[in-house]
Amino acid sequence: RAVSLIGAPTDIGASVRGASMGPEALRVAQLKERLEAHGLDVADRGNLTGPANPWQPPVEGYRHLAEVAAWNRAVRDAVAAELAAERLPILLGGDHCLAIGSIAAVAQHCRARGKRLRVLWLDAHADFNTSAITPSGNLHGMPVACLCGHGPAELLALAQHADGAPALSPKQIRQIGIRSVDALEKRFVHAQDLDVFDMRYIDEMGMRHAMELALATLDAHTHLHVSFDVDFLDPGIAPGVGTTVPGGPTYREAQLCMEMIADSGRLASLDIVELNPALDLRNQTADLAVDLVESLFGKSTLMRKGARG
Ligand code: ARG
Ligand code: MN
Ligand code: MN
Ligand code: MN
Repeated sequence: RAVSLIGAPTDIGASVRGASMGPEALRVAQLKERLEAHGLDVADRGNLTGPANPWQPPVEGYRHLAEVAAWNRAVRDAVAAELAAERLPILLGGDHCLAIGSIAAVAQHCRARGKRLRVLWLDAHADFNTSAITPSGNLHGMPVACLCGHGPAELLALAQHADGAPALSPKQIRQIGIRSVDALEKRFVHAQDLDVFDMRYIDEMGMRHAMELALATLDAHTHLHVSFDVDFLDPGIAPGVGTTVPGGPTYREAQLCMEMIADSGRLASLDIVELNPALDLRNQTADLAVDLVESLFGKSTLMRKGARG
């Protein structure tokens, strides 16, 4: 399988500076080499460029909207080029606002090829705010809403299909690991009927059952996109993120999540976002993210699939 790494070194949509160093930390953790060890053909496309972070307060409910749009156009075009070349794009963020461009490219690709699309959103946060309800104005808290058609014209224009339909319908999304949702955001999640496997669900039913449901009804024509916000993980094992929330998946729960995605055989694009090396301890969060991505690409334990029962 051919995969391409695309660096997007920016923290333009974040609440804390430092996610701009994420791509380099993942390279230092040997993402390319470790995927190659599993037999993948890995091309590192280097880093995209875009506007600097002006670190301004929000304007009409958005911080850095023009800059966020510029970065997302670059991401969308780079991801689209890899998909067109039949390569699996891995976006190295950067903060989570970049999923707008990444998933927009994926949605457009799927529509053109007549493929179904399923998006797994691994995150502590629902990222479903709009300018009317955001507590912060930070666009990394809004990508899911933007992709579903609720966002500013600048971002809808780059994300939507040619006929003006939103990039995604809530029906295509499954959120896993959620444990921090703002009060008005929660109402909007319910109103739009997003499918959420929150930490309470995972506590009660287990990661296995959550993932069985999240991965149900995939078929041979389904393109599976995983948007992996590193703050999905428990901060005890993953301190290197800007918006930590206690009570996330353990090391083993996260591994199982990735292994079950790998077993589906449908993974076709990936975002790794919100890694913040400025807050990390000796790159441990980047190392962990790379471990998990190895599992996502099929690194397995000794037991064979059929032997698991
Ligand atoms: N819900 C909060 C907000 O809108 C935090 C969002 C955090 N998002 C993230 N991708 N880390 O500001
Ligand atoms: Mn394809
Ligand atoms: Mn998050
Ligand atoms: Mn996020």
